[in-house]
Amino acid sequence: MLDRPLISLADTDTAEDRAAERTRLLALEAEYCSFGDTVHYTETPKIFDRCEGSFIYDDDGQAFLDLQMWYSAVNFGYANPRLNEAMVRQLNRLPQVASQYLHREKIELAADIAMGAQERFGRKGRVHFNVGGAQAVEDSLKLVRNASAGKSLMFAFEGGYHGRTLGASAITSSYRYRRRFGHFGDRAQFIEFPYHFRGPRGMSKEEYGLHCVKQFERLFESEYNGVWDPKAGKCEYAAFYVEPIQGTGGYIIPPMNFFPELKRVLDKHGILLVVDEIQMGFYRTGKLWSIEHFGVEPDVLVFGKALTNGLNPLSGIWAREELINPTVFPPGSTHSTFNANPLGTAVALEAMKMMREEDFATSVKDKGAYFLAGIQALKAKHAIVGDVDGLGLALRIEICEPHDSYTPAKALVDRMVDEALLGDLVYGGERFGLILDIGGYYKNVITLAPALTISHGEIDMALALLDQLFLRVAPR
Ligand SMILES: Cc1ncc(COP(=O)(O)O)c(C=O)c1O
Repeated sequence: MLDRPLISLADTDTAEDRAAERTRLLALEAEYCSFGDTVHYTETPKIFDRCEGSFIYDDDGQAFLDLQMWYSAVNFGYANPRLNEAMVRQLNRLPQVASQYLHREKIELAADIAMGAQERFGRKGRVHFNVGGAQAVEDSLKLVRNASAGKSLMFAFEGGYHGRTLGASAITSSYRYRRRFGHFGDRAQFIEFPYHFRGPRGMSKEEYGLHCVKQFERLFESEYNGVWDPKAGKCEYAAFYVEPIQGTGGYIIPPMNFFPELKRVLDKHGILLVVDEIQMGFYRTGKLWSIEHFGVEPDVLVFGKALTNGLNPLSGIWAREELINPTVFPPGSTHSTFNANPLGTAVALEAMKMMREEDFATSVKDKGAYFLAGIQALKAKHAIVGDVDGLGLALRIEICEPHDSYTPAKALVDRMVDEALLGDLVYGGERFGLILDIGGYYKNVITLAPALTISHGEIDMALALLDQLFLRVAPR
């Protein structure tokens, strides 16, 4: 088995050969791979073989239009030639160097991100790299605990997701991710997020945003609400962790007045604002950082995923100087063998350059508006679509029971995802599949994160395929 050359499954001769190879691999997987990741959320895991642009292909060469792009890690399209070339250039020059030494790409990337943040937020800061989003979240936890003289308590949102390491899952709202493992650190206090579609009836989106802030602010009215010592003027909590647009929570876009109001309360009580841009950063919403839509300045910003277009697990934090200067965050405060690795930083540097050269602010806004208009038309046609919304190319379709277009219909969405993976939807006389992702408080939201490079033609195709899918699964 091990001396067999690694070839593309699609190159194996016949459909029978490919089916036999698939069976062999799945049997090995069932025997030797841990089931602890998310592969076995589905009963029949799918094997993919190659990818390009907005499409990913299975071992039979069947094309799937990807509407989730590796959970928004591949913003610039699969196998992006420019980014692949940057990777190859680095591979041929300096692919490896221990993280205690310097290389040009790390320095330039940190400077690029920090100078950009200074332009946007008016504050000098520094960048620290790590691998993977959750690890960067861990670093941010160290940073804010250190800056607040060891306070270990955090606020975070209901519906928030920050990763699955022990520290990150303590500030992630789902108990499901903690249940088996007990508590290593303090879990966050989870605060209501203005999820308007499921909020109280009779309130506008803006009124509901203000209502949520008021509820939070109430905690500081008296020492008996458990978070604030009015005599000392001190809060027991170090920071508030936010996703400006909730990702795993179901691509929920709060009203524009929400974060400015929240920030006012945080500033008043000395609570740091940590903005998690891991999923919504890098122009997913039409701005480099999604928090820019709200005109609010973060104290710490966390990023990952699309920084390298998913070519390399590189993540990081930006923090304002007071929190991360070498006196308060000295050498050795945190370390990973692979942090700031040269392959990742080289690709990220090229991706940042691309983001400056191309007008993603305009193209993502335009394509997002076009896609949103299309899913609004689908909502008008299909009673199973309860709510649609979008900011840039972060779009949501909330699937509900058709009798009221409101009761969450999780089983229906699960079926949709499975049916989409059959690869037998039809567009222009050809068969296609769809790659969809599910999120939301009730796991009934299709969260759409197409490539930012998706064409208008591919958006038309996505809409036609979704239309077919909705017709196929809708109860009659
Ligand atoms: C907002 C947010 N934070 C943190 C993470 C964790 O990142 P990773 O999966 O790279 O550890 C994710 C991943 O989906 C995310 O969406």
